[in-house]
Amino acid sequence: MDFINVLASPPHFFRLFFQLAFSLFYAALSERRKASLKRPSSADYELDATTGPFPREPLQNLPPYYTIWEDAFHTATHPDTRLRLGIDNRAESVGAHIHGSQWRADVASWPVLDTECLQGNVRFLQRAHYVLAWLVNLYVHSLPPPSDAPSSNDAPIIIPKSLAVPLAAVSRQLRIAPVLTFADTVLWNWEFVDATKPLSETNMKFRTFSGTRDEEQFYLASATAELHGIEMLRIIDDYHNLPNVTDLTTISKVARDLGRLKGVIEDISAIIQSVRAKCEPHVFYWQVRPWFEGHNPSGASWVYEGVPDSHKLDLNGPSAGQSTVMHAVDLFLDIDHKLRQRRRYPAPSSENRRAEKGFMERMRRYMPGKHRDYLLALSNTPHPVRDLAAQIPTLRDPYDGAVDALKNLRSAHIRIACLYVVSMTNSTSFWSRCPIAGQVKKEITHARGTGGNEVTVLLKAGRDATYRAMFKPPPEKYLAPPKH
Ligand code: HEM
Repeated sequence: MDFINVLASPPHFFRLFFQLAFSLFYAALSERRKASLKRPSSADYELDATTGPFPREPLQNLPPYYTIWEDAFHTATHPDTRLRLGIDNRAESVGAHIHGSQWRADVASWPVLDTECLQGNVRFLQRAHYVLAWLVNLYVHSLPPPSDAPSSNDAPIIIPKSLAVPLAAVSRQLRIAPVLTFADTVLWNWEFVDATKPLSETNMKFRTFSGTRDEEQFYLASATAELHGIEMLRIIDDYHNLPNVTDLTTISKVARDLGRLKGVIEDISAIIQSVRAKCEPHVFYWQVRPWFEGHNPSGASWVYEGVPDSHKLDLNGPSAGQSTVMHAVDLFLDIDHKLRQRRRYPAPSSENRRAEKGFMERMRRYMPGKHRDYLLALSNTPHPVRDLAAQIPTLRDPYDGAVDALKNLRSAHIRIACLYVVSMTNSTSFWSRCPIAGQVKKEITHARGTGGNEVTVLLKAGRDATYRAMFKPPPEKYLAPPKH
């Protein structure tokens, strides 16, 4: 057949051709647009319908090739062979320090194991991150403290390449910071008490650095808060699955769900406060928290041997500020931590302005990459619930109720942080009783979070940003002083 002769005349042919090309182009564009406006659903982002941010099962041991890592991890946290903080100068710890020094020499002499065979297996990658991140902090914090010579305080801490290189590699795969995170201490750090029963706050046990019950209870409080947070994820998913947000039935569902959300936030607030009964502030501050410390900008730098641009890595310590469910509720309620919204009241105080505005966003780099993607999807939602409440007056009270509960949670959390961190920093009563403490106090000038932030300024800024999302005018006492 003569193809040339069956084609339309050239101008007509080109018109048809361009019409076809344009319609294909627009179809592709609108598909992309639809994809980018896809309603966020937590299940698409490694947030399980039943266990939320937790894996369904505890993470399995790594394949036999990685036995040296698993064995060293086991030894360093086993009750009989547990490593001690380097600053623990009690006589009873001398034997443990000798063992610790041999343990570190062994770790430093290991070969750099290849992590290629873990690629594509998320659970193994998580396990590798968990084991290596714990090994790094065990290694660093069991080192003897620097001597009194001023220069030795500035000497960098070298993380041996046997730990640093594979940790950086698996972190790249998971898109998470190459350091101990909230996921490593809570989400991936549990086993069933009874493996025949489902995951619940009464069926979890945790590995600890210090061997104290207080540390375990601290993890359990965070885990319990996360488990309650699963209900928040469901509420958020439900909202994004609404076919429309205009009819009366839908609006009353949104109002009811905001009421449910308020209840869950109140439960989490009670859980945070319950930590007081189970975790002793002195033990937390002096025996547990030092193990968490990551690289602190005001302290000695951490160098990841064999990792290019090691100084650019995110190396702060773990914090519940890295909890995906807490970020999700903030985004859902449109809490403006960055102080971008000019029309919210009261105006930020000068202290609020001084706080690090990017803290919450920075903490997201310490979350598994998939969870961060979920939060990004939430922040791009086409129908934020606060906008809806602005349009529909009957939703304002339920919305304000949920925000008020979140503000109260943050107020309660500030009291806990003050009790466990701020007042302990300033406490002298413990120095005489605890020989560990004297060494630590030298390094502290202000109460700082594990991320090196000035705690009260930061947490109050978060509470005030929360309060500012409410519609109803704030009581007089919350208003900023008049400008002169
Ligand atoms: C003894 C218990 C606790 C203490 C001492 C404590 C302390 C702190 C500190 C010092 C910070 C400042 C940020 C940083 O890490 O540098 C922080 C942030 C944060 N913590 Fe806690 N925390 C405790 C328990 C919890 C629990 C159980 C939760 C559970 C949800 C939680 C949620 C948060 C959140 C979401 C942030 C980010 C700041 C904010 O949203 O206001 N904390 N915490």
